Amino acid sequence: MYQFSIAVDSAINIPEDSYEMDALIAWMTIVRDGIYPGEGLLIPEFKTKKDVAKIPGAQIPLFTGLLDMKANPQAGEKVYAQRCLTCHGDNGLGFWRDGEGYIIPALAGSSSFSHAGGPLMVPIGAAFLQRNMPLSQGSTLPPQEALDVMAYIATLPRDTVWWQSYYFQHDPCSRPAFMPLHVGVIPKDFPFTKEQAQFGPWRPIAEWLASDACKSANPPTQALLNKDFDPKQAPQAPVKKDSAAAPQ
Ligand code: HEC
Repeated sequence: MYQFSIAVDSAINIPEDSYEMDALIAWMTIVRDGIYPGEGLLIPEFKTKKDVAKIPGAQIPLFTGLLDMKANPQAGEKVYAQRCLTCHGDNGLGFWRDGEGYIIPALAGSSSFSHAGGPLMVPIGAAFLQRNMPLSQGSTLPPQEALDVMAYIATLPRDTVWWQSYYFQHDPCSRPAFMPLHVGVIPKDFPFTKEQAQFGPWRPIAEWLASDACKSANPPTQALLNKDFDPKQAPQAPVKKDSAAAPQ
Protein backbone atom coordinates (compact mmCIF):
# COMPACT_ATOMS: atom_id res chain seq x y z
CA MET A 1 0.00 0.00 0.00
CA TYR A 2 2.69 2.46 1.03
CA GLN A 3 6.40 2.43 0.42
CA PHE A 4 8.77 4.36 2.66
CA SER A 5 12.51 4.48 2.60
CA ILE A 6 15.20 5.96 4.80
CA ALA A 7 18.22 7.45 3.08
CA VAL A 8 21.40 6.07 4.60
CA ASP A 9 24.12 5.28 2.03
CA SER A 10 21.62 3.96 -0.43
CA ALA A 11 17.85 3.88 -0.09
CA ILE A 12 16.66 1.05 2.16
CA ASN A 13 13.00 0.15 1.96
CA ILE A 14 11.15 -0.33 5.22
CA PRO A 15 9.72 -3.86 5.13
CA GLU A 16 5.97 -3.82 4.63
CA ASP A 17 5.27 -6.20 7.51
CA SER A 18 7.48 -4.41 10.06
CA TYR A 19 6.53 -2.58 13.24
CA GLU A 20 8.04 0.59 11.72
CA MET A 21 5.71 0.38 8.70
CA ASP A 22 2.69 -0.10 10.99
CA ALA A 23 3.84 2.88 13.04
CA LEU A 24 4.17 5.15 9.98
CA ILE A 25 0.75 4.18 8.69
CA ALA A 26 -0.73 4.63 12.17
CA TRP A 27 0.76 8.12 12.30
CA MET A 28 -0.72 9.06 8.92
CA THR A 29 -4.08 7.62 9.92
CA ILE A 30 -4.09 9.71 13.06
CA VAL A 31 -3.08 12.86 11.19
CA ARG A 32 -5.87 12.23 8.70
CA ASP A 33 -8.64 11.17 11.06
CA GLY A 34 -7.79 12.47 14.47
CA ILE A 35 -7.96 10.10 17.39
CA TYR A 36 -10.44 9.05 19.96
CA PRO A 37 -8.36 9.20 23.10
CA GLY A 38 -9.63 6.14 24.89
CA GLU A 39 -11.79 6.80 27.88
CA GLY A 40 -10.24 10.21 28.45
CA LEU A 41 -12.83 11.78 26.14
CA LEU A 42 -10.66 14.81 25.90
CA ILE A 43 -11.73 16.28 22.59
CA PRO A 44 -15.47 16.03 22.10
CA GLU A 45 -15.24 16.67 18.35
CA PHE A 46 -13.21 13.49 18.02
CA LYS A 47 -15.63 11.28 19.84
CA THR A 48 -16.65 9.35 16.76
CA LYS A 49 -13.10 8.94 15.54
CA LYS A 50 -10.68 6.10 15.95
CA ASP A 51 -9.58 4.54 19.19
CA VAL A 52 -5.81 4.87 19.04
CA ALA A 53 -5.33 1.66 20.99
CA LYS A 54 -6.89 -0.27 18.13
CA ILE A 55 -4.67 1.08 15.35
CA PRO A 56 -1.80 -1.38 14.67
CA GLY A 57 1.55 0.25 15.30
CA ALA A 58 0.11 3.22 17.19
CA GLN A 59 1.36 1.97 20.54
CA ILE A 60 4.57 0.22 21.51
CA PRO A 61 3.83 -2.92 23.55
CA LEU A 62 4.53 -2.41 27.25
CA PHE A 63 6.93 -4.68 29.18
CA THR A 64 5.80 -8.09 30.34
CA GLY A 65 5.39 -8.10 34.12
CA LEU A 66 5.23 -4.33 34.10
CA LEU A 67 2.53 -3.93 36.76
CA ASP A 68 4.79 -5.48 39.40
CA MET A 69 7.87 -3.45 38.47
CA LYS A 70 9.00 -0.29 40.21
CA ALA A 71 11.00 2.55 38.65
CA ASN A 72 13.83 4.19 40.56
CA PRO A 73 14.67 7.74 39.42
CA GLN A 74 17.95 7.82 41.40
CA ALA A 75 19.20 4.70 39.62
CA GLY A 76 17.90 6.26 36.39
CA GLU A 77 20.09 9.32 36.87
CA LYS A 78 23.14 7.03 36.75
CA VAL A 79 21.89 5.29 33.60
CA TYR A 80 21.33 8.73 32.09
CA ALA A 81 24.89 9.81 32.89
CA GLN A 82 26.33 6.66 31.33
CA ARG A 83 24.18 6.22 28.26
CA CYS A 84 22.30 9.42 27.39
CA LEU A 85 24.10 12.50 28.67
CA THR A 86 26.66 12.81 25.87
CA CYS A 87 23.84 13.37 23.41
CA HIS A 88 20.90 14.78 25.36
CA GLY A 89 23.02 17.02 27.57
CA ASP A 90 22.88 18.25 31.16
CA ASN A 91 19.39 18.14 32.62
CA GLY A 92 18.05 16.68 29.37
CA LEU A 93 18.04 20.04 27.60
CA GLY A 94 19.11 18.61 24.25
CA PHE A 95 21.51 20.13 21.78
CA TRP A 96 20.57 23.17 19.75
CA ARG A 97 22.47 24.59 16.78
CA ASP A 98 21.61 28.08 15.53
CA GLY A 99 20.14 28.01 12.05
CA GLU A 100 19.43 24.29 12.28
CA GLY A 101 17.41 23.90 15.46
CA TYR A 102 17.60 20.88 17.72
CA ILE A 103 20.23 18.38 16.60
CA ILE A 104 19.29 16.27 19.63
CA PRO A 105 15.79 16.75 21.07
CA ALA A 106 15.26 18.15 24.56
CA LEU A 107 13.86 15.67 27.08
CA ALA A 108 13.06 18.40 29.62
CA GLY A 109 12.52 22.16 29.76
CA SER A 110 10.11 24.22 27.71
CA SER A 111 10.98 22.62 24.36
CA SER A 112 10.13 19.10 25.45
CA PHE A 113 6.86 17.30 26.07
CA SER A 114 4.73 18.84 28.81
CA HIS A 115 3.81 17.31 32.17
CA ALA A 116 0.74 15.80 30.52
CA GLY A 117 2.74 14.16 27.71
CA GLY A 118 2.24 10.43 27.17
CA PRO A 119 5.96 9.62 27.54
CA LEU A 120 5.81 10.89 31.12
CA MET A 121 3.71 7.89 31.94
CA VAL A 122 6.91 6.11 32.86
CA PRO A 123 6.05 2.68 31.36
CA ILE A 124 5.05 4.25 28.03
CA GLY A 125 8.21 6.33 27.77
CA ALA A 126 10.27 3.32 28.88
CA ALA A 127 8.84 1.10 26.14
CA PHE A 128 9.88 3.71 23.57
CA LEU A 129 13.36 4.00 25.09
CA GLN A 130 13.90 0.27 25.29
CA ARG A 131 13.11 -0.02 21.61
CA ASN A 132 14.93 3.05 20.30
CA MET A 133 17.53 4.52 22.65
CA PRO A 134 20.47 5.06 22.87
CA LEU A 135 20.27 6.10 19.23
CA SER A 136 21.26 3.20 16.92
CA GLN A 137 21.54 0.88 19.94
CA GLY A 138 17.88 -0.01 20.41
CA SER A 139 17.09 -3.07 22.57
CA THR A 140 20.30 -2.76 24.59
CA LEU A 141 18.72 -1.15 27.67
CA PRO A 142 17.31 -3.75 30.05
CA PRO A 143 13.62 -3.00 30.81
CA GLN A 144 14.43 -2.08 34.44
CA GLU A 145 17.04 0.48 33.30
CA ALA A 146 14.61 1.87 30.72
CA LEU A 147 12.01 2.36 33.47
CA ASP A 148 14.57 3.93 35.80
CA VAL A 149 15.93 6.38 33.24
CA MET A 150 12.42 7.35 32.14
CA ALA A 151 11.54 7.95 35.80
CA TYR A 152 14.57 10.22 36.11
CA ILE A 153 13.58 12.15 32.97
CA ALA A 154 10.05 12.50 34.35
CA THR A 155 11.43 14.28 37.42
CA LEU A 156 13.28 16.96 35.41
CA PRO A 157 11.70 20.44 35.21
CA ARG A 158 9.39 21.00 32.26
CA ASP A 159 6.32 22.90 31.10
CA THR A 160 3.10 22.99 33.01
CA VAL A 161 0.28 20.55 32.66
CA TRP A 162 -1.94 21.06 29.66
CA TRP A 163 -5.56 19.97 29.81
CA GLN A 164 -4.88 18.37 33.14
CA SER A 165 -8.34 18.76 34.53
CA TYR A 166 -10.02 17.29 31.47
CA TYR A 167 -8.44 13.87 31.40
CA PHE A 168 -10.90 11.28 32.65
CA GLN A 169 -13.30 13.90 33.95
CA HIS A 170 -16.24 11.72 32.95
CA ASP A 171 -14.91 8.46 34.34
CA PRO A 172 -12.09 8.89 36.86
CA CYS A 173 -11.66 5.13 37.44
CA SER A 174 -10.71 4.61 33.80
CA ARG A 175 -7.48 6.57 34.11
CA PRO A 176 -4.38 4.42 33.42
CA ALA A 177 -2.87 3.03 36.63
CA PHE A 178 0.46 4.65 35.77
CA MET A 179 -0.77 8.12 34.91
CA PRO A 180 0.94 10.61 37.27
CA LEU A 181 -1.45 12.23 39.71
CA HIS A 182 -0.69 15.76 38.52
CA VAL A 183 -2.52 14.84 35.32
CA GLY A 184 -6.21 14.08 35.10
CA VAL A 185 -9.00 13.80 37.60
CA ILE A 186 -7.91 11.90 40.72
CA PRO A 187 -10.68 9.49 41.74
CA LYS A 188 -12.24 10.15 45.13
CA ASP A 189 -10.77 7.94 47.90
CA PHE A 190 -7.66 7.15 45.79
CA PRO A 191 -5.52 5.35 48.39
CA PHE A 192 -2.01 5.54 46.83
CA THR A 193 0.78 8.11 46.94
CA LYS A 194 1.77 10.22 43.97
CA GLU A 195 5.16 8.44 43.98
CA GLN A 196 3.50 5.06 43.55
CA ALA A 197 1.24 6.32 40.74
CA GLN A 198 4.25 7.61 38.84
CA PHE A 199 6.90 5.02 39.68
CA GLY A 200 4.95 1.85 40.54
CA PRO A 201 4.37 -0.86 41.43
CA TRP A 202 1.16 -0.35 39.49
CA ARG A 203 -0.72 -3.62 40.06
CA PRO A 204 -2.45 -2.54 43.32
CA ILE A 205 -3.47 0.72 41.62
CA ALA A 206 -4.82 -1.09 38.55
CA GLU A 207 -6.77 -3.45 40.82
CA TRP A 208 -8.21 -0.60 42.88
CA LEU A 209 -9.23 1.40 39.78
CA ALA A 210 -11.08 -1.67 38.49
CA SER A 211 -12.75 -2.32 41.87
CA ASP A 212 -16.25 -1.54 43.06
CA ALA A 213 -14.67 0.69 45.71
CA CYS A 214 -13.46 3.06 43.00
CA LYS A 215 -16.57 2.78 40.87
CA SER A 216 -19.05 3.39 43.66
CA ALA A 217 -17.17 6.48 44.84
CA ASN A 218 -16.70 7.72 41.25
CA PRO A 219 -19.62 6.81 39.02
CA PRO A 220 -19.32 7.80 35.33
CA THR A 221 -21.06 11.08 34.56
CA GLN A 222 -24.43 11.14 32.86
CA ALA A 223 -22.77 12.84 29.89
CA LEU A 224 -20.57 9.77 29.43
CA LEU A 225 -23.49 7.40 29.70
CA ASN A 226 -25.41 9.47 27.14
CA LYS A 227 -22.32 9.83 24.94
CA ASP A 228 -23.16 13.50 24.95
CA PHE A 229 -20.52 16.18 25.30
CA ASP A 230 -20.62 19.89 25.04
CA PRO A 231 -17.90 21.00 22.61
CA LYS A 232 -17.63 24.26 24.57
CA GLN A 233 -15.99 22.23 27.31
CA ALA A 234 -13.05 21.52 25.03
CA PRO A 235 -9.91 23.04 26.47
CA GLN A 236 -8.03 25.69 24.53
CA ALA A 237 -4.46 25.14 23.44
CA PRO A 238 -2.06 27.29 25.44
CA VAL A 239 0.01 29.94 23.69
CA LYS A 240 3.68 28.99 23.87
CA LYS A 241 6.01 31.90 24.43
CA ASP A 242 9.42 30.31 24.57
CA SER A 243 9.47 27.35 22.26
CA ALA A 244 13.24 27.14 21.91
CA ALA A 245 15.61 26.55 24.81
CA ALA A 246 18.78 28.58 25.11
CA PRO A 247 21.51 27.36 22.75
CA GLN A 248 24.18 25.32 24.49
C1 HEC B 1 24.06 9.10 19.97
C2 HEC B 1 23.20 10.14 20.52
C3 HEC B 1 22.06 9.70 21.43
C4 HEC B 1 22.14 8.95 22.58
C5 HEC B 1 23.38 8.33 23.24
C6 HEC B 1 20.80 8.91 23.11
N1 HEC B 1 19.94 9.59 22.31
FE1 HEC B 1 17.94 9.85 22.59
N2 HEC B 1 17.78 10.76 20.80
C7 HEC B 1 18.84 11.07 19.97
C8 HEC B 1 18.31 11.64 18.73
C9 HEC B 1 19.12 12.13 17.53
C10 HEC B 1 16.91 11.64 18.86
C11 HEC B 1 15.89 12.08 17.82
C12 HEC B 1 15.61 10.86 16.98
C13 HEC B 1 14.60 11.10 15.90
O1 HEC B 1 13.94 12.13 15.88
O2 HEC B 1 14.48 10.19 15.06
C14 HEC B 1 16.62 11.11 20.19
C15 HEC B 1 15.34 10.98 20.69
C16 HEC B 1 15.06 10.65 22.01
C17 HEC B 1 13.77 10.72 22.64
C18 HEC B 1 12.49 11.21 21.97
C19 HEC B 1 12.40 12.69 22.19
C20 HEC B 1 11.23 13.32 21.52
O3 HEC B 1 10.83 14.43 21.95
O4 HEC B 1 10.71 12.77 20.55
C21 HEC B 1 13.92 10.32 23.93
C22 HEC B 1 12.84 10.28 25.00
C23 HEC B 1 15.31 9.97 24.10
N3 HEC B 1 15.99 10.18 22.92
C24 HEC B 1 15.87 9.51 25.28
C25 HEC B 1 17.16 8.99 25.37
C26 HEC B 1 17.66 8.30 26.53
C27 HEC B 1 16.89 8.09 27.83
C28 HEC B 1 18.93 7.90 26.24
C29 HEC B 1 19.86 7.07 27.09
C30 HEC B 1 19.38 5.77 27.47
C31 HEC B 1 19.24 8.40 24.91
N4 HEC B 1 18.13 9.03 24.42
C32 HEC B 1 20.45 8.25 24.28
C33 HEC B 1 20.16 10.86 20.23
C34 HEC B 1 20.67 10.09 21.26
